[in-house]
Order: sequence, then structure tokens, then C-alpha cells
Amino acid sequence: MTILVTGGAGYIGSHAVLTLKRQNKDVVIIDSLQTGHQGAIDQDTPYYEGDLRDSEFLDRVFSAHSIDAVIHFAANSLVGESVTDPLKYYDNNVGGAISLLQAMNRHEVKKIIFSSTAATYGEPESELIDENDPTVPTNPYGETKLVIEKMLKWAGNAYGIHSISLRYFNVAGADMEGEKGEDHNPETHLIPIVLQVALGQREKISIFGNDYPTPDGTCIRDYIHVQDLVDAHLLALDKLEKSPQTAVNNLGNGQGFSVMEVIETARRITGHDIPASIEKRREGDPAMLVASAERAGKELGWRPKHPDLETIIQSAWQWHQSHPNGYTART
Ligand code: UFG
Repeated sequence: MTILVTGGAGYIGSHAVLTLKRQNKDVVIIDSLQTGHQGAIDQDTPYYEGDLRDSEFLDRVFSAHSIDAVIHFAANSLVGESVTDPLKYYDNNVGGAISLLQAMNRHEVKKIIFSSTAATYGEPESELIDENDPTVPTNPYGETKLVIEKMLKWAGNAYGIHSISLRYFNVAGADMEGEKGEDHNPETHLIPIVLQVALGQREKISIFGNDYPTPDGTCIRDYIHVQDLVDAHLLALDKLEKSPQTAVNNLGNGQGFSVMEVIETARRITGHDIPASIEKRREGDPAMLVASAERAGKELGWRPKHPDLETIIQSAWQWHQSHPNGYTART
């Protein structure tokens, strides 16, 4: 079975490639290297550098390999940037997905796992968000992912392209064997920034608001280990193989941690002080995002293996210590 992974040089995509290869699956990577890293791609994996919006490029890749299914990660994914530059997000995320689906249709590839997000929900109405909650995105990033989910539904109907969209909550951590990790430039995510402070690469962590309606006033998120997340993709592929469908599943642990709790856990794990200061709220941040992942449990048989925050942060810490400059040897 050959699986095309778009965005295979990115954080989650590179972990997915690693897991697929550990399970002896054939993998083909597409990445534009707009945000991905050449260093995240192993030399023995077929890799094509190019843009999904380029249909001739896609035809070359689909013609060169007999692709059975696609896992589609490639996208721009920064909430803040999507607010300031929405057209970039519509162009790259929606445009890329349209072009990819057209190529799949031309080459009769009928299965796709799509990387969606909790940002499709917007400001949640319930403590535990499930897939039937209203989807009212508060930023263009979430909106583009929702548009693609809807496109997938109609593509299933019209062309028989079946899909499972996985709505990620806060993905964190690194490969437990230390082979891959998280490297964004610039980094905006809480856990890697906190660990950069522990490494002495940053002076302090800015806490974006402590006046939210939560017990300690800081935002609560549901952190999920990247390997657990990737496992769900493989289960979703099996599911599509056995029963063609169009589905949406949340991926989270169902347990929330505040920004303060994350910082305190990182202090314990790293043994560093990690200075923090309270700053004003970041635009577009909901107070609390916690998943009900019951459906993924029932429908995919998914059970997270590393749900505790300590393990998630410990694995990220191991990666950041061994790769203080990420994939690039920056000086
Ligand atoms: N935070 C800080 N200081 C920082 C960085 C983050 O206080 O320097 C806070 C944020 O305000 C937020 C929490 O830490 O309350 C987590 O922030 P992240 O930036 O790590 O993650 P987000 O929750 O903003 O976003 C993540 C993904 C998005 C996805 C979203 C869905 O990056 O792609 O989860 O829940 F849309």
C-alpha cells in the first residue's frame, strides 16, 4: 500500500511518515518546504518538492507512483497570521485542497485523511466539544479547514472520494525515540516556547492573559501527543479501507490544562525556573478548548497511549535538548 503524505516535511507530517515507515508502508512525500524542513525527510523516502496548486506537478507525482490513499497535512496553520492575511489561507489551504482532490479524481485515488482542527468550532458552547457542536470559526484558518471538510463531503457524494477529517486539538510532544520533533520558525506554540526558555534561548514566556473565566485565569487547552494523533490517522485509513464513508472525528484527550499548569509542569520536568510574565490576551483565543473524543474511540478504536501532560512535555524536552536549533544547524 502506497500512501501519499502532503506536508510530510512538517511537524505532524514527518511524525506520520516515520510511523508509516515503521509499519512497513510505502510512503511518498510532497512538501513545498514553505514551512517544512528538508532535514525532516529521510533520504530513502521518495520526496517531491512542489506546490499542491500546481496540477502538472501533481500529475507527475500521481503518475510516478501507484497511490492508494492520501494523508493531507500541507497547509498554513497559524491562527494569528490567518487573521492578518486571510487570502493567503484561502489560496493555499482551500486552493491546495481543490487541486489535490482534482488530481485524486483524475488518477482515481479514492481515500483521503484530512488534517482538520478544533478551530472549526470557534468559541465553544460546551465544556467538552463534540462533533455535533456548532462550527462557527472565529478565524480564517478554522474557516478554510471547515470549507475543505464541506468540499470533502460533496466530493464523496459526487466522485466517490471517501474521507475522514480529523479535528486536532493542541498537538504537542515529539517522537518517543527522539527521531523527529517540533521545529517552527517563527515558533508560536506554547510548549516549544516554554522549552526554549528552559534552554536559555528566550528570556521568558509571555502568558497571554490571566483574566479568563478559568480557575487560574489562563486559557485551558487539550494537549495531545503527536504519536497518538498519528496513530489515529492510521486507524482512519484502515477504517476507510473497510468501510468507505465521509466522517469527522475529534482528536484530543478530553482533559484540559491551563497555560500556568503547562509552565509549572515544564519547570518540574526541566528543573529550570522558566520566568513568565503576564501580558494582554492574544486575539482570537477561546478560554477553553477540550475535546470529547468519544467518537474516535468508538468509530476508529482509537485509545491515546501517552495522554499525560508529563509524558508529552518530557518527549518534547528530549527533542529540544538534542536539537536546540531544530532541523537546521543555525549559528
Ligand atoms: N500562549 C501563551 N504564550 C505563548 C504562546 C501561547 O500564553 O507564547 C497560550 C495561548 O494564548 C493559548 C495557549 O497558550 O491559550 C496555547 O497556544 P498555542 O499557540 O500553543 O496553541 P493554540 O491553542 O493557539 O492553537 C493550536 C494550533 C492551531 C489550532 C488550535 C485548535 O496551533 O492550529 O490549537 O485548538 F487551530
